[in-house]
Amino acid sequence: MALFYRSLALGIILTVFAGVTVYLALPYVWTPGPKRDLAQVIGDPELGKYEARLGGCFSCHTDVKNNGVPLAGGRVMTTPFGDFRTPNITPDRETGIGGWSLADFTQAMTQGIRPDGSHYYPAFPYTSYNRMNDQAIADLKAYLDTVPPTHNKIPSNNLRFPFNIRRGLSVWKTLYFDPKPWTNHEEKSAKWNRGAYIINGPGHCVECHTPRTLLGGLDTRQHLKGLPKGPTGEKIPDISADPKSGVGSWSEGDLMFLLKLGLTPDGDAVSGSMAEVVKDSTSHYSIQDFKAVITYLKDPGTVK
Ligand code: HEC
Ligand code: HEC
Repeated sequence: MALFYRSLALGIILTVFAGVTVYLALPYVWTPGPKRDLAQVIGDPELGKYEARLGGCFSCHTDVKNNGVPLAGGRVMTTPFGDFRTPNITPDRETGIGGWSLADFTQAMTQGIRPDGSHYYPAFPYTSYNRMNDQAIADLKAYLDTVPPTHNKIPSNNLRFPFNIRRGLSVWKTLYFDPKPWTNHEEKSAKWNRGAYIINGPGHCVECHTPRTLLGGLDTRQHLKGLPKGPTGEKIPDISADPKSGVGSWSEGDLMFLLKLGLTPDGDAVSGSMAEVVKDSTSHYSIQDFKAVITYLKDPGTVK
């Protein structure tokens, strides 16, 4: 009997030990992508302001409902995993990102890693932002440095178990996140490549418009094909070039109207999260970027 209890105790100790080891090792399961060194890149705040528009940073990082200061965070994002509260990304040193270096910012945007080494949830679309080019990231940081610092302490996320275990994210990242900057498809025009870069990179359109696999990775075989219930709980339309289910039969003018004014060819105004995307992001596009995005939507093909 004593032997039985002794081996049982040993078994329990070993199990606990194995569990603790796995738990401690979890954050390191994922191997980060190649380190991006932006030390030599000089950011321009004016261009960075435009990058913030392309990236839609204002929509998520402003608590519009409670008249929050732009970029000072606190917006509640309700998801099936629980509620996120977006961080303050103004340069306040205590409650914002005022103490961050360009290297810290680059790591957050391209690897989804916090300065303390822990992982971000992909509710922060670094899964798309990692495709942004070095200059764009440096410009964005230069712009964020010029925003008035706002002291606004954000309460922590309120996620359900087991989604509240941040270290578990490394497993998800191992399965679904392979960071790499955008590289041009040589056989395509510069205009197409710019459009592809925006839609798959800063514009993060894929995050809503591309269906996901069971564990929440983008199902790239169904690029931009829409889904009955997107990350925001809404029905997300197909915006592939399919003439029936997608926007293949829309004219360039139709697409322009949608992106600039949020009006569909039937004259309806887009609603929900797309209304925000239009207001905070696409309506600010330069004429070249409208043309680029429209060129790409007419022929999105596959993306490497
Ligand atoms: C779809 C909503 C969404 C958009 C769009 C978005 N973010 Fe965020 N962002 C988040 C969430 C949610 C977090 C926190 C994630 C977490 O808790 O792991 C976050 C975290 C961050 C952080 C880390 C802050 C900290 O204190 O650790 C930075 C920096 C950041 N975002 C910058 C940006 C920039 C720059 C843009 C625009 C290019 C942007 N975000 C667009 C949702 C968003
Ligand atoms: C946060 C989620 C989200 C993001 C990000 C997003 N969309 Fe949408 N989009 C929607 C939703 C929801 C609708 C449907 C709106 C409606 O029916 O009122 C929509 C509608 C559209 C439509 C109209 C399609 C139709 O058949 O009516 C187009 C075109 C479109 N989006 C393009 C884009 C582009 C381009 C981007 C990136 C710049 C983008 N979307 C980013 C959620 C999103």
